[in-house]
Amino acid sequence: MNAVNIDKGYVDLSIPENVNIKDEINRLRKEKNAVILAHYYQSGDIQDIADFVGDSLALAQWASHTNADVLVLCGVHFMGETAKILCPDKKVLVPDLNAGCSLADSCNAADFETFIKDNPGYTVISYVNTSAAVKAFTDVVVTSTNARQIVESFPVDEKIIFGPDRNLGNYINSITGRNMKLWNGACHVHEQFSVEKIIKLKKEYPDALLLAHPECKNVILALADKIGSTAALLKFATQSDVSRFIVATESGILHEMQKQNPDKTFIPAPPNDSTCACNECNFMRLNTMEKLYNCLKYEQPEITVDVEIREKAVLPIQRMLDISAKLGL
Ligand code: 13P
Ligand code: SF4
Repeated sequence: MNAVNIDKGYVDLSIPENVNIKDEINRLRKEKNAVILAHYYQSGDIQDIADFVGDSLALAQWASHTNADVLVLCGVHFMGETAKILCPDKKVLVPDLNAGCSLADSCNAADFETFIKDNPGYTVISYVNTSAAVKAFTDVVVTSTNARQIVESFPVDEKIIFGPDRNLGNYINSITGRNMKLWNGACHVHEQFSVEKIIKLKKEYPDALLLAHPECKNVILALADKIGSTAALLKFATQSDVSRFIVATESGILHEMQKQNPDKTFIPAPPNDSTCACNECNFMRLNTMEKLYNCLKYEQPEITVDVEIREKAVLPIQRMLDISAKLGL
């Protein structure tokens, strides 16, 4: 494989017009024994071509047992890193290395280490939306699918640090009665939903249920009919007898919600600023079909993780997967 320039964080080569991108992606993934894993926040065309679409727990679980030689992670950087930590011998590719996460960025590893040192005797629970370096300081990783159960697997008097999402941490404290010490981080997408506009929508559609991701502020969660991970919200909407939903999470999830429920109506929860598409994660949406094709073709950009960090970070991730398997999650 010839080296290509990825100075921009992705392979910036134009694709000839006569190339059918979908056909070529299908041919290349067979030829290379590659799988494409996509998060629900990816654009619809990427979700449709992926071998597997899921929430962050399911992506990690999939990565941990695939026989593929190459994994293309269509999501954000920490998802690619988690896959690489779980499969160090496989090639893990991402369409665009610039796809970061504001929540992961709100927790710098050196500052988090200081926070841990300032609170000796605490068990450290970290949300999966963190860098590998933060995971290396962590006792157990959680996602929004398993956070409650993993916190509850510790004795009630366990002293716990939870980072980096203050909204998820507050929510878990409220439903478990714990008093975890929280890192003060947040996601810029989930913090911008408008309470006033959601209340107005609920008045306009009194039959509609509000579905909210736990990364939303507690004023939004207080209004929600169902709080859960992307996978949990999708499952709830599919199993519900109700036919209209207001969805307070990144709007990419509406693609799969609509696909599985063609007769139901899904309304994206409005952001405070009505002039922006702020309920689209700008990081997630950096990935495109063109970048995916080039990434598979040139096997770049590749995720790498420092060996020493990987050896530490794999332990809390594996602990999460083991607990989740025991709990049937
Ligand atoms: P899920 O674990 O629910 O897929 O959430 C991932 C995420 O990044 C939420 O913003
Ligand atoms: Fe990170 Fe928020 Fe984007 Fe999720 S939606 S990947 S938490 S920035």
